[in-house]
Amino acid sequence: MSTVNIEFVLSDGSTVSLSGEEGETLLNLKFKYPELANLEFACEGAIACTTCHVIVDEPHFPMTGGISDDENDMLDLAYGLSKTSRLGCQVRLTQQLEGAVFTIPRKNRS
Ligand code: FES
Repeated sequence: MSTVNIEFVLSDGSTVSLSGEEGETLLNLKFKYPELANLEFACEGAIACTTCHVIVDEPHFPMTGGISDDENDMLDLAYGLSKTSRLGCQVRLTQQLEGAVFTIPRKNRS
């Protein structure tokens, strides 16, 4: 496993740089980094909420992997939906995501 360095833009506009292991989901990072307190995972990865909604920077969006029909259906309910939106619990870190920036929308709803 190797380390992947990424950045988050928090809902207050501040940024935080952090790293995770290849294969790890953004959900896992939440448990390691208190800075991600405002990124919520209300359904703990069951694709039954949008509290983990993140917007991926455009160059890295294609590297976030395939989106399931269930994720697409749930994203339709996300506040501030963007063409590069993902549910954070469904994104696994890969080397291709090195340097990726994930923006947490100002408002996420369950
Ligand atoms: S935590 Fe609910 S869909 Fe990601």
